[in-house]
Amino acid sequence: MDTKILLPNNETYKEAREIIRSGGIVAFPTETVYGLGADAENSEAIKKIFIAKGRPQDNPLIVHISKKEDFFKVGKNITNICKALMDFMPGPITLIVDKNENISKEATAGLDTVGIRIPENKIARDFIESTGKFIAAPSANTSSRPSPTTAKHVYEDMNGKIPLIIDGGSCDIGIESTVVDTRGDKARIHRPGRITFEMIEEKLGKGNVEIAKLGEKAISPGMKYKHYAPKCAMELHFRKETALDACNRLKNEGRRPILIALDKYIEFDPHIAMGKNSVDYANRLFDSLRDAEKQSDYIIAIAPDDDEVGRSVLNRIEKSCGGNIVK
Ligand code: TXA
Ligand code: MG
Repeated sequence: MDTKILLPNNETYKEAREIIRSGGIVAFPTETVYGLGADAENSEAIKKIFIAKGRPQDNPLIVHISKKEDFFKVGKNITNICKALMDFMPGPITLIVDKNENISKEATAGLDTVGIRIPENKIARDFIESTGKFIAAPSANTSSRPSPTTAKHVYEDMNGKIPLIIDGGSCDIGIESTVVDTRGDKARIHRPGRITFEMIEEKLGKGNVEIAKLGEKAISPGMKYKHYAPKCAMELHFRKETALDACNRLKNEGRRPILIALDKYIEFDPHIAMGKNSVDYANRLFDSLRDAEKQSDYIIAIAPDDDEVGRSVLNRIEKSCGGNIVK
């Protein structure tokens, strides 16, 4: 199959609509990362997503909608906590609620719950709107690879596997949405993101939000899998000194290390400068991993600053390096 990359315009949306309505897959940009979308009510279409990604069968997809009124057509038993958190929509947040019957069981991997998201990105919403469907979509990478933040990243992983990528340039945020279970007495954060614990706590009041721990039965199935891994070795450091030592030692051993760090720590070549703060770091993280693996055989990353967004970024980096951490 030929994979087209098209800019967003009426003709592209028309083509996307035809693909989705005939049970196919379209990759589309959002403000977080690119998604791999199919009709959330069509089981056969959903199965194609799992095949294209090589995604484990028990990992549910998020259902994307373009407007709040559709929330109640996809989910039910909406709690007051959920209603309050809907104030963050459209935006980089996914709310878990009980699922309506119309949503395919394949999309939610057999769960009775569904994660719902309204992207802030206008292209994403125009695409969804033009299909007239609810769009089930995971990130548009091959399973276990870094998430895609440009159309080129999607092409690297999906060339020949899907018919169309809508090119919306690079994603503003760069890490995936915050996933929050809204069904209980407290909001539970399953995956940290740009909408932070503090922002949610401010909305709901102190004591009304908690962070789900890995290993808990109720945690998002997706959190247990290998994630965001570059093709080369990778090590995470918290101090500039140990990171620079590692770079120099590897270089002396004949390896080809590369340093990934905030601008203020860049004292080694080659390197990828991650900007001035955690927001910059989030924005560049996945692109930097895909870039680094092409030019080096060992990534030495220095953690972002220890702030709210920095901790969401750190969550991804810890998974990227597979627990290879120098404290
Ligand atoms: O920003 C994002 O969320 C992007 C864009 C494309 O919207 N999507 C994304 O999808 O990151 P994915 O499939 O890569 O990650 C979805 C995460 C997984 O960890 C999955 O287990 C969890 O959300 N999830 C989805 N539905 C769930 C449910 N009903 N219950 C618990 N966890 C759920
Ligand atoms: Mg993903």
